[in-house]
Amino acid sequence: MEQYIIKGGIPLVGEVEISGAKNAALPIVSAAIMADEPVTLENLPDVNDINVLLESIEKIGAKVDRIDRHTVCINGATIRDFSVDYEYIKKIRASYYLLGSLLGKYRKAEVPLPGGCNIGSRPIDQHLKGFRAIGANVDISHGTIVAKAEVMHGAHIFMDVVSVGATINIMMAASRADGRTIIENAAKEPHVVDAANFLNSMGANIRGAGTDVIRINGVSSFHGCTYSIVPDMIEAGTYMCAAAATKGDIIIKNVIPKHLEAISAKLTEIGCEIEEFDDSVRVVAARRLLRTQVKTQPYPGFPTDMQPQLSCVLALSTGTSIVTESIFENRFKYVDELSRMGANIKVEGNTAIIDGVEELTGAQVSSPDLRAGAALVIAGLAADGFTVVDDIIYIQRGYEDFEGKLRSLGAEIDKVSSEEELKKFEFRVG
Ligand code: UD1
Repeated sequence: MEQYIIKGGIPLVGEVEISGAKNAALPIVSAAIMADEPVTLENLPDVNDINVLLESIEKIGAKVDRIDRHTVCINGATIRDFSVDYEYIKKIRASYYLLGSLLGKYRKAEVPLPGGCNIGSRPIDQHLKGFRAIGANVDISHGTIVAKAEVMHGAHIFMDVVSVGATINIMMAASRADGRTIIENAAKEPHVVDAANFLNSMGANIRGAGTDVIRINGVSSFHGCTYSIVPDMIEAGTYMCAAAATKGDIIIKNVIPKHLEAISAKLTEIGCEIEEFDDSVRVVAARRLLRTQVKTQPYPGFPTDMQPQLSCVLALSTGTSIVTESIFENRFKYVDELSRMGANIKVEGNTAIIDGVEELTGAQVSSPDLRAGAALVIAGLAADGFTVVDDIIYIQRGYEDFEGKLRSLGAEIDKVSSEEELKKFEFRVG
């Protein structure tokens, strides 16, 4: 089992390059099979979730050619199977995007119901409501969602909750329905916009992505294209918090600063200096940071996917901070681990009350989920002494070469898979 070993207390300094956004790449890879011509995707992140999704589309018959580490060519013309294996769904929830793409293209899809998730219950009722509204029959049988349609037609859909996944899934299916679909109360995240831009590059007619009303005029077929995936705002935000927690000075390259505004604003408020350039940001944390309060919200609010990383920064700031999680009910699981490193945090319902401490101390901790795992690595980078992070498989789902990128910023971190390697690291860095 792989672990991260970290010797903390070194301010991060230097430059780091951000990869393509995992949460944009998941729907985009799923949608790429909707064309019967080659689709080339660039800036694809090399992370486990994407690699598993590529395997799952290959399994149903799509042709997948790896051009290089970040470029893949997908051709959906050879798909003969509309049923996705539970094996893949177990590993990545977001393979539910294959429901929207297969239903849109072939009018049928069978995808096992995604299981529970570490950050809370994650219903997909809004996805199914949208598919039904555009004419699909959707049944759940033996743990699998079976969606079928004779004809799919446009519809006026009001989303009961703002959902990234449901917005994109409905957008994919509706882009191949007859007539016009309007999605009201749509999610506005940059990955919704990126998925819409990609579908439009294949010939879809989608307007309004990035606002809360999306209008889709269905078309009968898609063509091939070449598309480059948007930079990952959460990966960027994670490095911003790592710089803040370690009192570092880093330049984060290949980002869209506009997408980072909510994160930049919070870090500025607590005392970081943030400089924005065309496609990079510089984060400087020259002194101990200040307290704040923050509530996670759909974009453009503060992202729930940045809540653990920011909380970790606040655990080291002065005074008492209040962090409210309003999207997922179970996203404070890392708090117990952080407390073992000396943080002073009390969770009451969906709120964490964080009394900042001057120092964290290294400990052996375990990642409860992807973003919480990243937060524990940040804690380890800032802490005094050695930290071992277990269950890094979660982190590898969404961060490309996390340890390599952190090392390029001066961090002492390594991925180890035995006690012997761990000891070697401790001996080497002292
Ligand atoms: C996506 C992201 C995830 C991020 C989340 C919120 C991907 C692969 N994952 O997840 O990293 O944390 O957005 O920004 O892009 N809900 C329902 N019914 C539904 C769908 C959602 O009640 O049918 C609720 C959820 O329980 C949650 C809220 O809506 O409380 C938002 O969820 P949603 O935006 O759908 O999250 P995901 O798309 O699953």
